[in-house]
Amino acid sequence: MNHLLQVHSATIQFGGVKALQDVSFHLDQEDLLGLIGPNGAGKTTLMRYVTGINDSKTGHVELSGLKISGLPVYQRVKLGISMSQQLVRPFKSMSFLDNVVFAAGYHKTEKPWKTLFIKSRIQEKQRALTLLERLGIADMAMEMPEKAPLGYLKRLEVARAMAIDPKILILDEPLAGLNQREAEKLADTLSQLNQQGQSMILIEHNLREVMRICSRLVVLDNGRLLAEGSPKSVLSQSHVQEAYLGKELHVNP
Ligand SMILES: Nc1ncnc2c1ncn2[C@@H]1O[C@H](COP(=O)(O)OP(=O)(O)OP(=O)(O)O)[C@@H](O)[C@H]1O
Ligand SMILES: [Mg+2]
Repeated sequence: MNHLLQVHSATIQFGGVKALQDVSFHLDQEDLLGLIGPNGAGKTTLMRYVTGINDSKTGHVELSGLKISGLPVYQRVKLGISMSQQLVRPFKSMSFLDNVVFAAGYHKTEKPWKTLFIKSRIQEKQRALTLLERLGIADMAMEMPEKAPLGYLKRLEVARAMAIDPKILILDEPLAGLNQREAEKLADTLSQLNQQGQSMILIEHNLREVMRICSRLVVLDNGRLLAEGSPKSVLSQSHVQEAYLGKELHVNP
């Protein structure tokens, strides 16, 4: 059977920097895959290849067995690939609710701002509100993001990425900047979404939470695939530990 997502041999270079060299991995339905590795390892670059922002010199990407490399970003979004950004960038002049309604527009049109004016806006708002509820931030629905603490903005970023009802939700460091208690709570929310059927790729440096909630791990180091498998088996490998030398391994509860 086909994997939900399969990346074959991605090789990406930026000028003289080899960001990825011959990287292959897969994601199965309802997986919560942790994508980890030191700074500059190529994690964001690899996910941008999946979404269509980056192009690879070699290889290809398949979604449920269909080749999608070559398709523009908006078509991949329509097929159900959604990615949140490493830095939170909500529209500051829109409420939490409208930020999610706007993001949902990508589902319908190449001009997402149109969703703010269309007749079905009540339905869109209801869907957006349900998403804010699932992320535990419905109390902020009518508030503006500029007044909100980071914990809320991180959850808003996830809600925005989920607005298109994605087949694959890719989250780039959703726990970064949160204290351990907040990180734990958001990781619990992500785990719940996954248990409700959301397939997910989680780029994250917080290894304690990665260990706790991910079903599989893929490790990159210096643009190469270093290891993949169950969290326990991967993090017990000495070359994975070495890649993190000098870094605090947040693996023990
Ligand atoms: N648009 C770009 N132009 C030039 N170089 C880039 C670009 N994007 C990434 N790189 C380089 O490619 C390498 C991989 O970067 P990438 O952002 O994918 O790493 P990362 O694993 O996401 O790191 P971090 O954990 O710090 O976010 C780095 O050397 C980075 O400087
Ligand atoms: Mg990154």
